[in-house]
Amino acid sequence: MKNIILDCDPGHDDALAMMLAIASDKIKLLAVTTSAGNQTPEKTLNNAMRMLTLMKREDIPVAGGNRTPLVKPLETAGNVHGKSGLDGADLPDPDFEVQDMTAIELIAKTLRETDGKVTLVVTGPMTNAALFLRVYPELAHEKIDQIVFMGGAMGLGNWTPSVEFNIYVDPEAAKIVLNSGIPTVMAPLNVTHQAQIKKAEIEAVKSIKNPVGQAFYGLLGFFEIYHEDPKWGFFGAPLHDPCTIAWLIDPEMFETEQMNVDVETEGELVRGETVCDYYDLTGKPKNTEVLLEIDRDKFIKLIMDSLETF
Ligand code: RIB
Ligand code: CA
Repeated sequence: MKNIILDCDPGHDDALAMMLAIASDKIKLLAVTTSAGNQTPEKTLNNAMRMLTLMKREDIPVAGGNRTPLVKPLETAGNVHGKSGLDGADLPDPDFEVQDMTAIELIAKTLRETDGKVTLVVTGPMTNAALFLRVYPELAHEKIDQIVFMGGAMGLGNWTPSVEFNIYVDPEAAKIVLNSGIPTVMAPLNVTHQAQIKKAEIEAVKSIKNPVGQAFYGLLGFFEIYHEDPKWGFFGAPLHDPCTIAWLIDPEMFETEQMNVDVETEGELVRGETVCDYYDLTGKPKNTEVLLEIDRDKFIKLIMDSLETF
């Protein structure tokens, strides 16, 4: 069983990633920390608490983290995730207390209390991960075996022409994480745009007669709307964040390449771009395993089977 901490900005796809982790017998979700990104820090924290209440996992500790990125002002994505950050379903109010500590304090506490290594999964801007690395460098290198994150792209962008949202929000944080020396695994847009759920598959979620399935029917229905814009050329809605957890559960579902990945933090047009050295042109350390292809049918089956377990 793999011990993980999930740092997220729920966000519809973050919530789906959390669900996969909780449903899997291969993963133990030790703690959840939240970042400002898809919505304000207050809303992403409340959304994480609401999802854990819905899934009856109030035993999992939650703490809120960064209120702004390291350098830039916060930009959120209400146009994608709605006013609440999880529009589309009637979710329960949290029925447990948030931890009386910051996200990086909860990460430190969790690492200290856990035997062996822990995987840090990041599905939002990487501000909390960067802050943790700066405040607790020894603990990070001793106890974190890898950082698995959704973010970035090779030659693609979804927020500006060559920049993906999570890295766009906090490029400096992403640069710190990718240059930390801790092995990283990256789920870029190149793979998450393959991980689309079709409208008919969303409809099939409606037949999953448990409260979690019913909630995700509404959440996925809302999330799909933004992606109907013909400019994307999508056949469904890309499920970005769950690719991180799906890789941890079944890496055979993906094809990957090891390469150097770094982040541009300057430049009017490309600030936040992930620069992926696919052809090893720089000779820089191959710090990142990049997910490039996914077996979409297997991925969707994992989501459906996971929803049935609640
Ligand atoms: O670009 C997609 C990423 O940005 C996902 O993590 C989504 O939840 C948003 O945070
Ligand atoms: Ca996210």
